Amino acid sequence: MNGSLALPRPTFSLLANPRARRGGGIRSEAFRGGLPAIDSALHEIRSWPDYHPTPLHDLTGLAQHVQLGQLRLKDEGHRFGVGSFKPMGGGYAVSRILAREVMQVAGAARTGPRELLAGEFADIVSRVTVACATDGNHGRAVAWAARTFGCRAVVYLASHVSESREETIRSFGADVVRTSGNHDDAVRQVAADAGAAGWFVVSQTASATSPEIAHDIFLGYGALFHEMVNQLPHGVTPSHVFVQCGVGGLAASCMAYAELRWGGDRPVIVVVEAENAACAFRSVAAGEPVAIEGDLATLMGGLAAGEISPHVWPTLDAGADYCMTIPDEAAIDTMRCLAAMNPPIAIGEAGVASLAAALTAAQAPHARELMGLTGQSRVLTIGTEGATDPGAYAEIVGLSCP
Ligand SMILES: Cc1ncc(COP(=O)(O)O)c(C=O)c1O
Repeated sequence: MNGSLALPRPTFSLLANPRARRGGGIRSEAFRGGLPAIDSALHEIRSWPDYHPTPLHDLTGLAQHVQLGQLRLKDEGHRFGVGSFKPMGGGYAVSRILAREVMQVAGAARTGPRELLAGEFADIVSRVTVACATDGNHGRAVAWAARTFGCRAVVYLASHVSESREETIRSFGADVVRTSGNHDDAVRQVAADAGAAGWFVVSQTASATSPEIAHDIFLGYGALFHEMVNQLPHGVTPSHVFVQCGVGGLAASCMAYAELRWGGDRPVIVVVEAENAACAFRSVAAGEPVAIEGDLATLMGGLAAGEISPHVWPTLDAGADYCMTIPDEAAIDTMRCLAAMNPPIAIGEAGVASLAAALTAAQAPHARELMGLTGQSRVLTIGTEGATDPGAYAEIVGLSCP
């Protein structure tokens, strides 16, 4: 690492959640099926074409720089060529929708990825349409899964999503509908249109989807954490996990997984949001879901959600030890810092948020003390996307993607 680089030291907001619980305190449908269900989701995902565990980078130099014991970054930029963690959730949910449809229509006893990928039920699968609203990454993952498993995808975009992200979603074969509002407006529109057309909505938002599909997304994210924790050196357990939050699915899944895996000894979990889209922060502060209005302007597009999903709220409310919001400049500094490493690590705007927050907190004495961050802490962060918008990435870091 180049020691002369500016590490983020922005103004940030930090909230300790008075209702955070551990050791049996997180009660919600998140626990349905427990660790065996998460293990079986990972087993299924491992059988998909081009599966590789994504790298878990050990950022020793950065850890020393900010006086943490260990600091790691899971690099989801390499996930199935899609560029973000989203195939683990949306992609897994699409494969489960199709398997259930085949079982129902053909009366097949048990259908999984092997039969779907072999095209054994192509006549049934090709008649299915999956739909979603997206800021970019989720739509790309759903489009990718639809193409991989042979069904149709329709993807609704919030107005701020870049042309380049739209083009990538189309390149995976999806039909795209551009809406005039923000992410939450796109969620409402896809719910209305899908209801009329008989499409399956792949989302974690109550009005738009079935609890079963929301739960599959949740399980798929659980599989991501399972994969990540299995990559830790033998005997290392994390003391802190910093995790991004948009509608809250990834963060809540992290909490449910941690509780299942470690119970009362689970790591401290810090929920990270963009300062202009801090719906988890505001909801945890209020003790109930609070919606944020407006354009939710942030460079961290994947985090631009104004409402926590009701499916995940109970888990989030009990499992978030701290909520933290960061400004865009923290993400920018962190992207540049990773790009300057040898070898460089290319992580996108929303993707760096958890690392940016960890670096920011580690350099702020009051945050260190409040969260118990020390020179012995073993901190995990998740690079949830790579350079998914290469033009924006190049503009921010001053280099094209490595
Ligand atoms: C790159 C990235 N990180 C994090 C998130 C947040 O995930 P969730 O909406 O499940 O909270 C998203 C959501 O789109 C994303 O695209």
